[in-house]
Amino acid sequence: MKTIKTVSEMQDCRKTLAEPVGFVPTMGYLHGGHISLVRKAREENVSVVVSIFVNPKQFGPNEDFEKYPRDLQGDLEILEEEGVDAVFAPEAAEIYPQDFNSRVEVLGITQKLEGNCRPGHFRGVTTVVNKLFNIVRPQRAYFGQKDAQQVIVIQKMVKDLNMNLEVITCPTIREEDGLAMSSRNIYMNPEERQSAIVLYRSLMLAQDMYQRGERDAEAIRKEMVRLIKTEELARIDYVSVADPATLDELDMITGKALVSLAVKFGKTRLIDNVVLG
Ligand code: PAF
Repeated sequence: MKTIKTVSEMQDCRKTLAEPVGFVPTMGYLHGGHISLVRKAREENVSVVVSIFVNPKQFGPNEDFEKYPRDLQGDLEILEEEGVDAVFAPEAAEIYPQDFNSRVEVLGITQKLEGNCRPGHFRGVTTVVNKLFNIVRPQRAYFGQKDAQQVIVIQKMVKDLNMNLEVITCPTIREEDGLAMSSRNIYMNPEERQSAIVLYRSLMLAQDMYQRGERDAEAIRKEMVRLIKTEELARIDYVSVADPATLDELDMITGKALVSLAVKFGKTRLIDNVVLG
């Protein structure tokens, strides 16, 4: 496995990789969710490239960029074991040199949900993912359903800009008690970690209501909020039942619905979702 630090080395390495190339962009501190993406990429492609880059442009000024967990050595050992061909792990100055002065932005859907709570976040994501796609030139790129809005935004960018690759969404990987795996889970103390199970319980409640025939989106939101509020440590950013294409809030569920939420436990902000229908 090659570990690559510069754009030009990555571009040279890409010329030597047998196609199709599957690509898994990450911010490192790898967990079961990332590993499932790498395995899927391994299954479906001849070569696999993983990037590890904590992208400063997708963090707001008061967010956790500085303290975001990092463990490059541990990550490289995992990826070696998974049979990855190349890991692209650049420094920030390599991706954003001093004269860097461009951005890639999807409009509309990036203003809702996460975009509303984290202004500029998706512009940072699409800018870096666009650069990574240009550098790695994969035939397929793999993202987790846990970041549902991120996948929708990236799919829209790929479509709008006629980018020649397939975006593949892989299921959310959960801990035994249902908490979605996330690099941020380690921020929580034991009490917060215990309370955070309510996220999965509230999504299961939504699924249950839907399966029993409930189609009134507000009734589902209300019950989820009620359940989450039974946990004293939980502070809700949003609970949403939205159209998965436009991310507009639904009144009635007639087709598919993206049920998503963002909730803080102490300083840790978690997101999760399920799709109904
Ligand atoms: O999902 C992530 O880890 C990041 O948003 C991504 C896609 C690697 C871009 O920095």
